[in-house]
Amino acid sequence: MSKINYGLENKVVLITGGSSGIGLALALELLKQNASVIICGRKEENLARAASILGDSGRLTTIKAHIAKEEDVTAMFGQIEEQFGRLDILINNVGMNLITPSIPDTSLVQWSKIIDTNLNGTYLCSRGAAKIMKKQNSGKIVSISSIAGRKATPAMGVYGIAKAGMEMLTKVLAAEMAQFNVQVNAVAPAMVRTEFSEPFWGNEDIYKSIIKNIPAGRIAETKDIIDPVLFMASEGSSFITGQTLVVDGGSTII
Ligand SMILES: NC(=O)c1ccc[n+]([C@@H]2O[C@H](COP(=O)([O-])OP(=O)(O)OC[C@H]3O[C@@H](n4cnc5c(N)ncnc54)[C@H](OP(=O)(O)O)[C@@H]3O)[C@@H](O)[C@H]2O)c1
Repeated sequence: MSKINYGLENKVVLITGGSSGIGLALALELLKQNASVIICGRKEENLARAASILGDSGRLTTIKAHIAKEEDVTAMFGQIEEQFGRLDILINNVGMNLITPSIPDTSLVQWSKIIDTNLNGTYLCSRGAAKIMKKQNSGKIVSISSIAGRKATPAMGVYGIAKAGMEMLTKVLAAEMAQFNVQVNAVAPAMVRTEFSEPFWGNEDIYKSIIKNIPAGRIAETKDIIDPVLFMASEGSSFITGQTLVVDGGSTII
């Protein structure tokens, strides 16, 4: 649990992909901070497993939705408006990656799958949230990017392109929404120990080669990501917008 109280009591927060990894850790912390938390994901069984971990505070809502399907996203925001009448914070957490060959050898199918979830999905959810936040004249949107969006990373090229797009979406939306008291920011972690990255940290040789390039000498745990995201979701960041906070143990400074 974070040692910091972010003043998020009774805030209505949607975390996309909150059924595992970073999203689940964020949901757990936000419930401890007495927020009302909505998580979405594609698979009922993952949502049910997450709900059993998150406990019965009465402040958790789960919604089955694929964020790259417009009809799912429209229905999800419709339900949120009906159930809560507002949305204070959106955390765009869904992300997926496939190991991809170099760009000349990447197929359109591989390209589209990665762009669809990471970029189109973030656009659809940001659009849905921004419409509500504009009406209420307040809100916070925080997207989980990646350092792969800032440096060309072998085998993660298309994922990096999608994350770079997410960071520009953050800037564009921030500029448009500032007049409505909505701040839009991103957090870009290096490797975090979750299921998503297990093929890398799960192999001892690969793990050793990764941490050689991280001054902190380790990869991140999900708890390392929570405070930066909650700061960006809190009143403390009210004059920060369009920014990406890099959370990488120093890996991009060397
Ligand atoms: N882990 C890392 O090393 C790392 C590093 C930098 C950045 N990130 C970023 O951090 C974010 C979270 O990563 P993670 O490691 O926590 O991932 P994860 O453990 O794989 O969790 C992904 C979550 O998103 C859901 N999801 C996936 N595709 C979805 C879709 N199309 N629609 C709705 N929900 C979907 C999954 O549930 P279902 O499968 O049930 O849909 C799950 O709840 C991602 O944006 C990732 O790019 C991760």
